[in-house]
Amino acid sequence: MGAARGSVEVVDDPAGEIALRLAAAANAGAQIALTGGSTPRIAYERAAELGADWSSAKIWWGDDRCVGPDHEQSNYGMAKAALLDRIEGEPPRIHRIEGELGPGPAAHQYEEALRGAFPGARVPELDLILLGLGPDAHCASLFPRNPELGEQERWAVGVNSPGMAPLVPRVTLTLPVLNAARNVVFLVTGADKAPAVRRAFAGPPDPDAPASLIDPVDGSLTLILDAAAAEGLQAA
Ligand code: 6PG
Repeated sequence: MGAARGSVEVVDDPAGEIALRLAAAANAGAQIALTGGSTPRIAYERAAELGADWSSAKIWWGDDRCVGPDHEQSNYGMAKAALLDRIEGEPPRIHRIEGELGPGPAAHQYEEALRGAFPGARVPELDLILLGLGPDAHCASLFPRNPELGEQERWAVGVNSPGMAPLVPRVTLTLPVLNAARNVVFLVTGADKAPAVRRAFAGPPDPDAPASLIDPVDGSLTLILDAAAAEGLQAA
């Protein structure tokens, strides 16, 4: 295994590993930011079946598309169907990105919600931020060479020109917030992601590979990979 930033766990059941981590965070009443995309869906479904107590947990999103909550492209909608509607007992506190407002107003609304939850904070320190990885090494909705990568003050910003489908405007947490997390966990599977894994975690920080800029200030970075995605970390 080539050198990689963070703690690398190559597992046969990535979804199960993420589910266990989500359940533990829920039981701890953590501030959790979920990721979107397709990979995490089964992990959310598995987490819903673990019988955790979600009543004190607070759910955020690392990003969402600027669509309504019932739209098929909504990251909130995916997590609602896979996890939030399926957990037993008292539900967590949900902080949905109101993407239907449009990127600017939705980012403002989301940042206000964060400021309300983390009063006086210079930057919010979420307990767990789950992230996926695009084949272009983007994470959340921070895309290669996009101006949002350089945002150092705002906690959430609108993204008018995402670099990958779905080509709808987005709202994303910014790098300072992602790097302030106590625990950042990437879930990446599939051989198609191996080159992005290498660029993101075995190469130098590079705005062409936004995930390579995820380097938690005080928190931990963990990569939960299947063997196919981990091929990217094999020595060249
Ligand atoms: C999104 C996600 C995005 C995702 C990656 C990987 O809104 O699409 O937040 O960052 O995690 O694109 O997506 P897949 O899991 O579908 O490959």
